[in-house]
Amino acid sequence: MRLHVLGTAAGGGVPQWNCACPGCTGARAVPSRRRLHACLAVELAPGRVYLVNATPDIGEQIERCPWLRPDGRRTPLAGVILTDAELDHTLGLARLREADELEIMATDAVRKAVGEGLRLDETLAPYVRLRWRDVEGAELLPVSGKRPRYARDFGDGQWVSALRIGGLVYAPAMGVWPTGFGDGADVVFADGTFWDDDEPRTAGFSSRTAIEMGHLPVTATRERLAALPARCLYTHLNNTNPLVDPGAPQHAELKGVEVASEGTVVEW
Ligand code: MLT
Ligand code: MN
Ligand code: ZN
Repeated sequence: MRLHVLGTAAGGGVPQWNCACPGCTGARAVPSRRRLHACLAVELAPGRVYLVNATPDIGEQIERCPWLRPDGRRTPLAGVILTDAELDHTLGLARLREADELEIMATDAVRKAVGEGLRLDETLAPYVRLRWRDVEGAELLPVSGKRPRYARDFGDGQWVSALRIGGLVYAPAMGVWPTGFGDGADVVFADGTFWDDDEPRTAGFSSRTAIEMGHLPVTATRERLAALPARCLYTHLNNTNPLVDPGAPQHAELKGVEVASEGTVVEW
């Protein structure tokens, strides 16, 4: 199997439209520092490609992926796998309404949030039928019970998952490090939203810590990732994370864990 990295930023992207922090300013000045919202294209079988999460950048991301070129009116896009129901991972579903039918694999909690919270089943029904199913050929492992803010009244459930497909583990958000996380994997993408736990407060956009926002910071996971035999990469970087600047000294403190780049192809 193979994957193509189509986005590596947390909600807002880099640069974020209303932000002039150093990360956003740097990305405006140097186009190669720009990051689209975190997304993978995964080829589960020859010619059957799934997007992992449907971001606000999905149109551009599909165009950037050679495996997703349509042929006549046929597309290799077989469906979407959702790791959570956050807006940065679900708003792109509406962009796919030109399909006749759209297959979506997700947990029950995520399906309910998208259906009853965002009301996308009903809103999109005149355009496209959303065909929800449990994950097959992959596993969704719980990594946090954090609900999206729009779904705060929805109760407990498997809100945030790591996706495991054979030797691939993809966890763009992780509030906890589950027992055995990454064991036996060949490649692990992990939550790189924040550098340290205080970043949302020191950057001045939230009174909560990274962990209170449902994101283990890099400083809490880099040693554990470095200890895995797998190739490990951080993704879902917030624009305030110093790692968005390739010259930042923090890159030397990553213990061999990489920062994911868009366009990278990994086979496993
Ligand atoms: C998150 O990853 O915590 C969410 O996407 C936050 C957001 O975009 O509002
Ligand atoms: Mn997010
Ligand atoms: Zn910013």
